Amino acid sequence: MSKKIAVLVGSLRKDSYNLKVAEFFKNLENGDLELEIIDIGHLAHYNEDLDKEPLPEGWEEFRTKIKGADGFLFVTPEYNRSVPSALKNALDIGSRPYGQNAWAGKPGAVVSVSQSALGGFGANHALRQSMVFLDVPLMQQPEAYIGQVQNLLQDDGSFVKDTQEFLKQFMQAYQKWVSNF
Ligand code: FNR
Repeated sequence: MSKKIAVLVGSLRKDSYNLKVAEFFKNLENGDLELEIIDIGHLAHYNEDLDKEPLPEGWEEFRTKIKGADGFLFVTPEYNRSVPSALKNALDIGSRPYGQNAWAGKPGAVVSVSQSALGGFGANHALRQSMVFLDVPLMQQPEAYIGQVQNLLQDDGSFVKDTQEFLKQFMQAYQKWVSNF
């Protein structure tokens, strides 16, 4: 039976490089993994006062998707050395109400994508910090810091060969990681 992997992209930008990476993963032959990119841009800022019926639009559906997923793939830019607020907001919504953490116990992996040379290292590890508390067992290796991403695209919009190979290897490792759960 196939396993559902929820892909969360930290950028809301139409021409996002992170979205391009997420779409590359989605279009690979992923064995028994079925990837779905989950929309997070419409979710209202988490506020405990709002966490009662009627819930803000989209929260219930989002939580249902996260609960129904067998694993998570996070593809994120770095904003001010951390995770963009849209992604942090999605983590927070999925983690509540108290005692109903929808993320817990499911295998995850993190890819950070940046136009700078550091490859979003700060965001990658800020996200890892939250994952400890959310009880998401993260794949440790290979780490994926995709730096200077603007130089890794060819004229036809596809990634250069080395990047494609690296992303494929990363995905193969993630398939293995998920199979342990
Ligand atoms: C950035 N960017 C950025 N880059 C980085 O490497 N480290 C950082 O701390 C930041 N900080 C930051 C803050 C804010 C508010 C913005 C809008 C941008 C640049 C960022 O990596 C770049 O815009 C990426 O292209 C964003 O990813 P997408 O939208 O292309 O997926």
